[in-house]
Amino acid sequence: MLSEQERKEIEAHARHYPNNRAVCIEALKIVQQHRGWVSNEGIADVAEALQMKPAELESVATFYNMIFRKPVGKHVILLCDSVSCWIMGYERLRQHLGDRLGIRPGQTTADGRFTLLPNVCLGACDHAPVMMVDDAHYQDLDPARIDQILASYQ
Ligand code: FES
Repeated sequence: MLSEQERKEIEAHARHYPNNRAVCIEALKIVQQHRGWVSNEGIADVAEALQMKPAELESVATFYNMIFRKPVGKHVILLCDSVSCWIMGYERLRQHLGDRLGIRPGQTTADGRFTLLPNVCLGACDHAPVMMVDDAHYQDLDPARIDQILASYQ
């Protein structure tokens, strides 16, 4: 069941959308903000609140890769692995992140601090290579900058 706070936040967003179907991504994001990720129970809770079928929400959640369907760490690193970033050094950065964190894409550090996920184009190709940590964008990356960024997250 949605918490009171989740329900209030979803209802506040719903006022700005023409129908429940249109608000479903925002509703999933709200559940994710509160719970860290969106479990099957989270899908069912949102489906019930929006009077949608869980399978419909499941397909939205699967398509929209900012919705996490598995538990993630405290901070989620989305490393762009689309073409401009590939050309500008994705592989070196992926290797560097892997060495620093001791994980591969798709994994979470043993201390639960970071999850590293590959992601399609993050929309800043002219500043490749690019990654996001939680909601923050980082551009024109190199290994030294990545070390600074990682150190700034607790
Ligand atoms: Fe990486 Fe577009 S290809 S930001």
